[in-house]
Amino acid sequence: MSSILEVRDLVKQYPGLRAVDGVSFSIDAGVCFGLLGPNGAGKTTTIEMIENTLDLTSGEVFYKGQPRGQKFREEVGIQFQSTQLLQYLTVEETLKTFHRLYTRQASLQQIIETCQLSDILKRDNRKISGGQKQRLLLALALLNEPELIFLDEPTTGMDPQARRNLWDIVQAIKNLGKTVILTTHYMDEAQILCDQISVMDKGKILTSGTPKELIQRYCPHVTIQLPLSLPAETLQNLPWTIETTPGGHELHAKDAREVLKVLMERDLDLSDISIHSPNLEDVFLVLTGRSLRE
Ligand SMILES: Nc1ncnc2c1ncn2[C@@H]1O[C@H](COP(=O)(O)OP(=O)(O)O)[C@@H](O)[C@H]1O
Ligand SMILES: [Mg+2]
Repeated sequence: MSSILEVRDLVKQYPGLRAVDGVSFSIDAGVCFGLLGPNGAGKTTTIEMIENTLDLTSGEVFYKGQPRGQKFREEVGIQFQSTQLLQYLTVEETLKTFHRLYTRQASLQQIIETCQLSDILKRDNRKISGGQKQRLLLALALLNEPELIFLDEPTTGMDPQARRNLWDIVQAIKNLGKTVILTTHYMDEAQILCDQISVMDKGKILTSGTPKELIQRYCPHVTIQLPLSLPAETLQNLPWTIETTPGGHELHAKDAREVLKVLMERDLDLSDISIHSPNLEDVFLVLTGRSLRE
């Protein structure tokens, strides 16, 4: 695969704050790349510098191997975090108004379908829900048939149903062969949508990889919790260290199946067992000692 976008040593210096502190990464064409990190990590600043909507202090951005130029402006779509939609226009009028601005035009009908806007075309921009607004903003980002699309926190503030809806749309956009760059502080979103992730905190990239690689690298163990009702003596001489906590007897293992097999052989009542498979939230905790949502 060839890299569609490469950034080298991006820096944004504000008076008294280095919001982005030497960020480098490269994104293969056709993938969904996620910048995952808590609020204030520097995600928006990073992607706005890449989009060229914010001046960079230093660093380099290459699109298809070249410094950003005309091609970049034509082939990129940006979903802004809070775009002021034009007042007194319907969803359809908004789409048509912006569509006309481009020389390179995607099929409006296809965008309306992909972004699930058919039912609200005649509605006033001011009368649509948060999820619908987000879908409209996404549609606006697709009007110039972009190859590379920037989504900044696309589901922040949405209810679970609207979030899942938007995830389906991002999947559909990926299936069209487009490259997606998204920022998020939701580990489930990153895990579901992203092929490649860079974890960001305090202006720096802490680590990069596929979700699976990151979990295997930093949190290779599942946690199994057994109910306290199981007498401690029934858990003696197991090949795993058992820690008894207020929540239950806890053990960590590479493979839950191994543990379950041994426990079943002991004929224990496992009805209240719980198994926690590590996720990107755990990766962030291991890397920083903090939670993504703090
Ligand atoms: N215009 C600005 N002037 C000064 N500091 C800013 C400005 N914009 C953002 N910051 C600061 O830069 C840091 C990174 O912000 P941002 O990129 O918005 O983070 P994120 O998108 O990850 O939540 C934050 O500490 C934020 O307060
Ligand atoms: Mg942000």
